[in-house]
Amino acid sequence: CDVDTLTVLGNSYNTDKITNVTPKILEKMGKNLHCKHNHPLNLITRRIENYFNNNYRNNWRAPMFSKFDRISPVVTLTQNFDSLLVPSDHPSRALSESYYLNSEYMLRAHTSAHQSDLIKQGLDAFLVLGDVYRRDTVDASHYPVFHQMEGVRLFSKQELFSHLGDTSRVTFFENGSRDATKQERHTIETSLCLEENLKNTLRNLANNLFGDDVEMQWVDAYFPFTHPSWELEIKYQGEWLEVLGCGIVEQEILSSAGADSRVGWAFGLGLERLAMRLYSIPDIRLFWSEDSRFLDQFNVEDPNTKITYKPFSKQSPVINDVSFWVPDDFSENDFYDIVRNIGGDIVENVELFDNFVHPKTKRKSKAYRITYRHMERSLTKREANEIHSGIVAAGVQQLGIQER
Ligand code: PHE
Repeated sequence: CDVDTLTVLGNSYNTDKITNVTPKILEKMGKNLHCKHNHPLNLITRRIENYFNNNYRNNWRAPMFSKFDRISPVVTLTQNFDSLLVPSDHPSRALSESYYLNSEYMLRAHTSAHQSDLIKQGLDAFLVLGDVYRRDTVDASHYPVFHQMEGVRLFSKQELFSHLGDTSRVTFFENGSRDATKQERHTIETSLCLEENLKNTLRNLANNLFGDDVEMQWVDAYFPFTHPSWELEIKYQGEWLEVLGCGIVEQEILSSAGADSRVGWAFGLGLERLAMRLYSIPDIRLFWSEDSRFLDQFNVEDPNTKITYKPFSKQSPVINDVSFWVPDDFSENDFYDIVRNIGGDIVENVELFDNFVHPKTKRKSKAYRITYRHMERSLTKREANEIHSGIVAAGVQQLGIQER
């Protein structure tokens, strides 16, 4: 009997009933934008690395944080979820949220997928950089592939309390209870000291990138793999922009990885978000542009060079609406994937502007406004209309929608 196989980065995978990775996504793999010289993602990566290397050194003056920027984005579901204590019924496991190769392998949805393996290898401080994949809405700040940097730092009791000199008077672990500020195994001193160290590290990083007068705020958050957890928001054009998630690593993750004598913190930051803010890049699709009018603006030796992106083309958009009846199992992200497959980077935005349930038949209808705009050249109405009809036709065929 023949099974369908999928080739991803040179390896083949048998497809099964949960396979949902699309050809458009596979096309984006292996580009390693973050490693490309002169790419804005590479410039910002180098700045963050320099920050860590200049400020954090081990006893031999070597950089404290080891860097991994070439780990394959194909991971097991165990790496992406179980190793991070993500409950089996957690919404992030839904097929509508991530790209699956089959029931065993997926495209990592975050760089946290590598935490446990690297801790098992004995590392105490590391940065992981790479492309991550999520099914999501279509707009100027969302793209199904983006880049993250993960940072993890573990401490022994001596290291965590080194500022106290004599550490014999403080307690590192206890069998206590979990509350808003700490895990059951951590003393309040351990938890607060980790929190302070984590927040200082990230606050100084943000000041290093954006200058001393950037406004920032900490917001309480929840992640299954850290407690307590926070998000850091930065003020950008009058609005708070979330740039990273972080927290105190769940002790159970450390014990499963053979590092139970240590405690630690972790963070994961979105590189596109930071780069858009730092260089005033208005649309996330631009990171994938191979147009020299984009790339040449980032062609500098010194990553600290101040760069403000100057748009090279202001093409006018073509806007088309579509409304249709949807089947009961309709998922928005399935429609967005079709839009991406057919329209590619010509689609700038998809907005759900009407959501309607027929009072009698209870049938559900949705209406979307799709904005088409080419980043590099002008787009004719006819070209946009063709893509639009292609999207509707694919929706009818693949999702069973019915145009109204
Ligand atoms: N992995 C989380 C995300 O992608 C971010 C995070 C990393 C949070 C590490 C806490 C610790 O949203």
